[in-house]
Amino acid sequence: EKGGYPDFMMKEIFEQPRVVRDTLVGRMVGGELSIDELGLTMEELNLIDRVYVIACGTSYHAGLIAKNLIEAWARIPCEVEAASEFRYRNPIITPSTLVVAVSQSGETADTLAAIRDARIKGAKVFGITNVVGSPVARESDGVIYTKANKEIAVASTKSFIGQVVSLTLLALLLAQVKGKLTTGQVRMLFREIGDTAEQIQHILDTQEQAIHEAACACVDAQSALFVGRGMGAAIAHEGALKLKEISYLHAEAYAAGEMKHGPIALIDPGFPVIAVATRSPVYDKTVSNLKECEARGAKIIVVATEGDADITEIADHVIYIPVVRDAFSPITATVPLQLLAREVAIMRGCDVDQPRNLAKSVTVE
Ligand code: M6R
Repeated sequence: EKGGYPDFMMKEIFEQPRVVRDTLVGRMVGGELSIDELGLTMEELNLIDRVYVIACGTSYHAGLIAKNLIEAWARIPCEVEAASEFRYRNPIITPSTLVVAVSQSGETADTLAAIRDARIKGAKVFGITNVVGSPVARESDGVIYTKANKEIAVASTKSFIGQVVSLTLLALLLAQVKGKLTTGQVRMLFREIGDTAEQIQHILDTQEQAIHEAACACVDAQSALFVGRGMGAAIAHEGALKLKEISYLHAEAYAAGEMKHGPIALIDPGFPVIAVATRSPVYDKTVSNLKECEARGAKIIVVATEGDADITEIADHVIYIPVVRDAFSPITATVPLQLLAREVAIMRGCDVDQPRNLAKSVTVE
């Protein structure tokens, strides 16, 4: 069942190139991006003037990425909120509000309750889920399936990648409908998303040793900080969640620019700081935050872009990923952090597929 892999988590991490490809199948029809199952006409999509992404856990982190893309490309204000918060406040919802509910299992109690509430208040709801016919799929106006196939490990990996790719397509579609991107631009970006499948494969094929060495640097720590800016911050959040849920090592994620407002006080010699510092418009800013950590003796592990030799001046360990457009960096840069979390968990003797206290589907509130 594990296909020769030592655990389901590893198997599912290695399936991610396929998930990217499958999630894109059938989406480019006659040179136009198309998501038929959304259940809204182009006119209705064009009217959308506010988006909420609601989700829990890892799915919430996919939402952080979607916010960046929807605002950057479609220029529609987008908020991301934990379903357990959204449902208990009084968000501003009108008939032109789109609520995007993201849930691997399609049955998370808080996400479902938030969907029901949003529809009563008049929002259009899209579900993004991995489970065909699940409650999230049934109760939404339209649905995108993530094509990850069954995910068994409690820690979400391949379903996250499926969610990020699906949300990226949704952001492109909204931008196309709103006339913010031309069909030519959308086609080019679509092709680049496809390229991330080979890029993930390349990371899986080449970075094992670097990830092992980085894991050795974390395994005895009491705590670890994950940092990044922009997309890197969203990826950092997912990296920290993965590490804490399967290795039981305390981890926190921070926007790198926020370090000096508190968390830098934690840093003492040997403290692991794991940074996402791929080539992006905020690369230099992230590096200067890392220098501040280095000056206080932190052990610095960086996910960086191939060809970035300078990063070794501050980093103790570097995990390289192929050159990728910043917008698509979460699809690739998350992968080494999944592997890092798994490696630390294995070294600490944890059951990576069945972490304590957690369930695959959270159907209670
Ligand atoms: O099935 P869902 O996507 O709604 O689940 C949400 C969270 O419970 C889930 O992502 C959880 O955080 C994972 N264990 C993370 O790996």
